[in-house]
Amino acid sequence: MKVNGTHYRSLWWDAEKAALQIIDQRWLPHDFRVQQVDTLEDYAEAIVEMRVRGAPLIGATAAYGMALAARLDPSTAHLDKAWAFLDKTRPTAINLRWALNRCRTHLLALPEDQRAEAALRLAHEIADEDVEINRSIGLNGLEIIRKIADGKTNGEPVRLLTHCNAGWLATVDWGTATSPIYQAHDAGIPIHVWVDETRPRNQGALTSWELGSHGVPHTYITDNAGGHLMQHGLVDMVIVGTDRTTRRGDVCNKIGTYLKALAARANNVPFYVALPSPTIDWTVTDGVSEIPIEERSAREVTHIQGVNDAGEIVQVQVTPRGTPGGNPAFDVTPNHLVTGLITERGVCAATPEGLDGLFPEQARI
Ligand code: MRU
Repeated sequence: MKVNGTHYRSLWWDAEKAALQIIDQRWLPHDFRVQQVDTLEDYAEAIVEMRVRGAPLIGATAAYGMALAARLDPSTAHLDKAWAFLDKTRPTAINLRWALNRCRTHLLALPEDQRAEAALRLAHEIADEDVEINRSIGLNGLEIIRKIADGKTNGEPVRLLTHCNAGWLATVDWGTATSPIYQAHDAGIPIHVWVDETRPRNQGALTSWELGSHGVPHTYITDNAGGHLMQHGLVDMVIVGTDRTTRRGDVCNKIGTYLKALAARANNVPFYVALPSPTIDWTVTDGVSEIPIEERSAREVTHIQGVNDAGEIVQVQVTPRGTPGGNPAFDVTPNHLVTGLITERGVCAATPEGLDGLFPEQARI
């Protein structure tokens, strides 16, 4: 998507420098900083520290990490070591494991002298595929928004609510939950987006920055406001992304998503999940008991972070010193609270049959 008139992806390969470039998202929305990733340690740090974040982007970054590993030493032992090193960076988003497995399987089937070139080609392929998947999710989600718009009188905007940042910054381009939003806006459908701030990391600020850059009308709200807005008929549709969705359609996403789904169900508001197929974990059925939930530093909760007038990142404590903080980063929304899954192949029910119908190659024997 565009930043000050220039089209950017959230990562790109600089062929001249033979190195990956990323947007260091810790500085957004205050500063747009590009960083070169040179070593495997840099790759791991970028993921752990959330310079890059969002399930699809973490996966694409890891694929470039495997490409670097193959260039440094294409032996099977080294690739296995790199796989394990990158795999342990973040536990919840399945795209990381998906990308690492895809790279490892592909490379180990090749002679060592072909692995470096093939690894870089595959990383490009994974990045390009992500863009295409998200574009298709956008087209499928656009039809849902269009239907809601058609049911409105006086050209009132369709009011959407989103949580976290499932935008182009969280993917390679387009975003998942934001792709239908961008496409509806570009198609001239009047929309307005309620953007949850998403404490503690405030990914909503990233979403606001994206939507603002694209001219999409939106309002930044506290995480606690959603239920109130739904109760007063001010939300037509909730749309969120996902970090891992199980084969029966349980949706793991940023902490707080579950509460939005409960409020949506209580107020008859449709709750949709934008789901790229690499985010489906076909090995897991029950999301609540089977998905590992990342526990991040308590400091993210006891302190708030921003940028001061001098442009430095600063943290301010909001609790009494020594207060213990708890920071589960994701939660699971059971499938019965999900109205539909918007995938690149179409929209389906959040059920085993719904997903098997769209992805028959994964269906149970
Ligand atoms: O902790 P983060 O910022 O990596 O979490 C991101 C999310 O939870 C997104 O909603 C999810 O990855 C979907 S992104 C297309």
